[in-house]
Amino acid sequence: MTADSPGLRPATIAVTAGRPPHEPDQPLNQPIVMASTYVAGGDLEYGRYGNPTWTAFEDALGALEGGRALAFSTGLAAVATVLDLVGQGGTVVAPRHAYNGSVMQLADLESRGRIKAVLVDITDTEAVVAACDGAALVWLESPTNPALEIADIPTIRAAAHEAGAYVVVDNTFATPLLQRPLEDEVDLVVHSATKYLAGHSDALLGAVVTRDDELFRVLKGRRDLVGAIPGTLEAWLALRGLRTLHLRVERAQANAAELTRRLRAHPAIGEVRYPGFGGIVSIVLAEGELAADLLTHKTALWVNATSLGGVESTFERRRRWKSEPTTIPAGLVRMSVGIEDVDDLWDDLAGALDDLTLPT
Ligand SMILES: Cc1ncc(COP(=O)(O)O)c(C=O)c1O
Repeated sequence: MTADSPGLRPATIAVTAGRPPHEPDQPLNQPIVMASTYVAGGDLEYGRYGNPTWTAFEDALGALEGGRALAFSTGLAAVATVLDLVGQGGTVVAPRHAYNGSVMQLADLESRGRIKAVLVDITDTEAVVAACDGAALVWLESPTNPALEIADIPTIRAAAHEAGAYVVVDNTFATPLLQRPLEDEVDLVVHSATKYLAGHSDALLGAVVTRDDELFRVLKGRRDLVGAIPGTLEAWLALRGLRTLHLRVERAQANAAELTRRLRAHPAIGEVRYPGFGGIVSIVLAEGELAADLLTHKTALWVNATSLGGVESTFERRRRWKSEPTTIPAGLVRMSVGIEDVDDLWDDLAGALDDLTLPT
């Protein structure tokens, strides 16, 4: 049995994929290859076209998602490269509550006359299916960030393909351990590998995964041309992070489920949103915006910081960002639940919630 053997389970793939061959004197781990150019005559030629450290990360992620992966400098570089598949004036259907940076890219492209963006309520499957008619690309994110809405991926995928559109799923929140959209015949999976895949809040990286060789070729060509390539150290850090993805996701999810249960019983909380899987929980403070701001400044373990998917618990009031849509409640705090002891996380959180005394 080798790391490429079919039928290996995700935890084994996470640990074994993307390693050098098991031969005498080969390093066990893929080294960090710092090279801007290579001796001519091979496949790589120049540092913008490829790097063995990127390839190791791509092999491991591709094996987990069940496709071929390409790494990018950031998640948003991956998003931009995928959106560039849309021809001049083409329509893109996307969740109105997709990650704000993705929605801002759509707005920017639309403002320059490049595309037409149709933003939908991704939970309204009938409306999304109707919007697919005439679309060039259907963008899905499930769960959405930070509303935690779930899309009916198989139904929307079928309608989008019927309309001749590409279907893309941003799988950042679920990770390939909890959702493998390529198995639902989605064309492309996108990741902010900055989040769970790398998992330690120390690297920015993006990725696209596909089973379609032609799409792979086109996207690789765009990456070569534009230069939206990953840093070698970042790719190595993400690969290192990927080795424990299953353990981190398992613990974060268990903590998130338990915190959801306890938060639902706390009087300071108006609403708890948790889709039933993953490590992200969004809470809406009963007293609104000010209470949410107070909470994010009163804890010791929970850190008020943007981003998510790291080993440490972080949270933020999302509407502190001016670009966040007003349909996201002003008192919503997105919590990225880490892998600490759940009782310590709860004591810190509950202490701050109990203490919320608003000025009258
Ligand atoms: C769901 C989702 N997609 C994409 C991105 C963009 O990724 P990056 O920050 O790596 O550019 C983010 C970042 O927060 C995200 O949450």
